[in-house]
Amino acid sequence: TQYTAEINAFSTTKADELEQFRIKFLGTKGIIKDIFDEFKAVSPEEKRTLGKVLNEFKQLAEAKYQSLKEEGGQAQGGKDAGMDLTLPGEGFEVGARHPLALVRREIVEIFNKLGFIVAEGPEIEDDWHNFSALNFPEEHPARDMQDTFFIKKGGEKGDIALRTHTSSVQVRMMEHGKPPFRALMPGRVYRNEAISARAHCFFHQIEGLYVDEKVSFADLKQTLFYFVQELYGEGTKVRFRPSYFPFTEPSAEMDISCTICKGDGCQLCKYSGWVEILGCGMVDPNVLENCGIDSKKYSGFAFGMGIERIANLKYEIKDLRLFSENDTRFLSQFKSAL
Ligand code: PHE
Repeated sequence: TQYTAEINAFSTTKADELEQFRIKFLGTKGIIKDIFDEFKAVSPEEKRTLGKVLNEFKQLAEAKYQSLKEEGGQAQGGKDAGMDLTLPGEGFEVGARHPLALVRREIVEIFNKLGFIVAEGPEIEDDWHNFSALNFPEEHPARDMQDTFFIKKGGEKGDIALRTHTSSVQVRMMEHGKPPFRALMPGRVYRNEAISARAHCFFHQIEGLYVDEKVSFADLKQTLFYFVQELYGEGTKVRFRPSYFPFTEPSAEMDISCTICKGDGCQLCKYSGWVEILGCGMVDPNVLENCGIDSKKYSGFAFGMGIERIANLKYEIKDLRLFSENDTRFLSQFKSAL
């Protein structure tokens, strides 16, 4: 009865005081538990009357607790009581752009500013567009520079294969249009190579083509220099080394000062301070003629780079395979770069 009075008198709706109440009466070490423990010891006759009283007492305490709790809840705004509406929301999971898509877009945006448009073409190509029009002679070892996946031998325009570079898109563009051309050709290309951290059987390229009257090697150098400053930051150095491609003459490979060690020497640049990022050159007059363009009137330059390589230098990715494994632990790291 002493407790009954206390319970009845209890009227706070404050959460902490209510919790004290719950512990005191209903808790695992509470009064009710104690009484029920003592109850086990009494005689069977007594149990019948006492049991009823005890049960009523327990119900009283529980009912009181429940009603006060609800009341307290309502006072603070209904069933959502205790919710702090000023807390930030939980948010929901969004995906991330693929690093190659990020880099591709960045490169395209830089060249857009110079007036380059984007051109695309098929990944399954014929020999003419992938090799012959680009001045790769029939049975010439230069074709072995790019290990090819063949699909079908001997078609109308030669063997059908997976394109080994997006230079094929340059041919398609020149065949079907009139100069001037100023375009980028991004896309997936395939080469029959063993898969490792440094090579894959497919990768992504961006090639560029500029054909007009009086285009010179100086235009090529200035364009690529501008590109590198935009992509890797001002002060990035470039150097050109003579090279060979069947479709350009003269041809060069372009290095940039290592983006990681800034020229001091590291694993990435093999302690040389330089890393190669692209091939380039003046479009060979034979290629222009193959595509029906007057090589006396027009000249042009072309360049080609692997997007993976550009991304590796930007994000310090050491294994090419990460790009195609779709491991979310890798991909989700690019979330902030929407
Ligand atoms: N097509 C060349 C390659 O895949 C790259 C390149 C393009 C080089 C244009 C020079 C000019 O290796």
